[in-house]
Amino acid sequence: MDTKVIKSKFPIFKNKIKGKPLIYLDSANSSQKPKTVIDRISKFYSKEFSNIGRSVHSLAVTATNRFEETRDLLKNFINAKSTEEIIFTKNATEAINLVAATYGEKFINKGDEILITELEHHANYVPWHFVRQRKGAIIKFAECNDKGEVDIDKIKKLITNKTKIIAITHLSNVTGAIMPIKKIVDLASEKKIPVLVDGCQGAPHLKIDMQELGCDFYAISCHKMYGPTGVGVLYAKKKWLDVLPPYQGGGGMIEEVKKDNITFPGSPTKYEAGTLQTAEVVGFSESIRFIEGVGIKNIIQHEKEILEYGLEKIKKNNSIRIIGDPKNRGSIISFTIKGIHPHDIATILDEEGVAIRAGHHCCQILHEKMGIAASARASLGIYNSKEDIDVLSDAIKKCNKVFNN
Ligand code: ALA
Repeated sequence: MDTKVIKSKFPIFKNKIKGKPLIYLDSANSSQKPKTVIDRISKFYSKEFSNIGRSVHSLAVTATNRFEETRDLLKNFINAKSTEEIIFTKNATEAINLVAATYGEKFINKGDEILITELEHHANYVPWHFVRQRKGAIIKFAECNDKGEVDIDKIKKLITNKTKIIAITHLSNVTGAIMPIKKIVDLASEKKIPVLVDGCQGAPHLKIDMQELGCDFYAISCHKMYGPTGVGVLYAKKKWLDVLPPYQGGGGMIEEVKKDNITFPGSPTKYEAGTLQTAEVVGFSESIRFIEGVGIKNIIQHEKEILEYGLEKIKKNNSIRIIGDPKNRGSIISFTIKGIHPHDIATILDEEGVAIRAGHHCCQILHEKMGIAASARASLGIYNSKEDIDVLSDAIKKCNKVFNN
């Protein structure tokens, strides 16, 4: 893959950071945006904008059609059975909250169990904590080992007759562990337990085929997929959307409103209350086209090469501890350096134009398990090259010099 060509499609890389070329290694946090996405939003506001699904004037019809085109594209991209299974939310966090609130309300009662793992991002724990508080449910954590992965046997052992849902990440945003979702779904379906997948890191970096994975719910973060902020997606099997109650109430999600009764339409309308993030959803269509243009197979192959190069290079530095060593791994390298706080690492790296994230990455339970409060994290995107890793490695050496000499 020619990363120079890829980088040229992203306007941000024309900028210098502290006089240095930008080396962006924070894509797990949020990815950069190709010009086609930025231009699409601008064109929508300049030529096609109106609110959607309400008025009948030409602009409203055009805007509604553009919005629904994204839903169609995404349906094909993730191989959902129908567009009814695609709900736009404001982010992946809201997608998970939607399931926790509606499924939790209807199907989880006192003493019931919610099975998650120690790898989970707070977005796939806190919403379940609310269900625990409201309903008196129990949250069970499948343990992660020192390689930063969760063995499927740990999950199997925790499944009981009380398990009401398994909520699990596809790809850990700290250790990079890729979870065997299909196998977990097979396990769960023997007991008719639904599986929710936090696909924030999975969707931008793995092939995601809903019919092949077989999960019941899959949460997507569009801004990590080279798309705009303010858009998330909940994929849900239609059978759930037919039985779950609405999430938020308001305009756009009703069928008929009377003083003593309100009826609701089917999905996705029932779950999309209020004016939606119209321009961002339209812009997201270009993210899907961009990913499809590069090809998910090429993305996987490219990121694997850069990851292997990065791991090999970083492992040579004896002062570095890489957090986790999962067998099946996505393009994330979290690390600590002896004697240097992760925030100091990130600050020194920034002086070299290298953008990484430092902190607990919204995974305090996992960090506690690893015996640390925080880590530094380099996360890859399609635009990263071996040269970027070389700059990262040199910048880390500079950190060593500043703090350890
Ligand atoms: N989940 C995002 C990250 O890992 C925000 O940085």
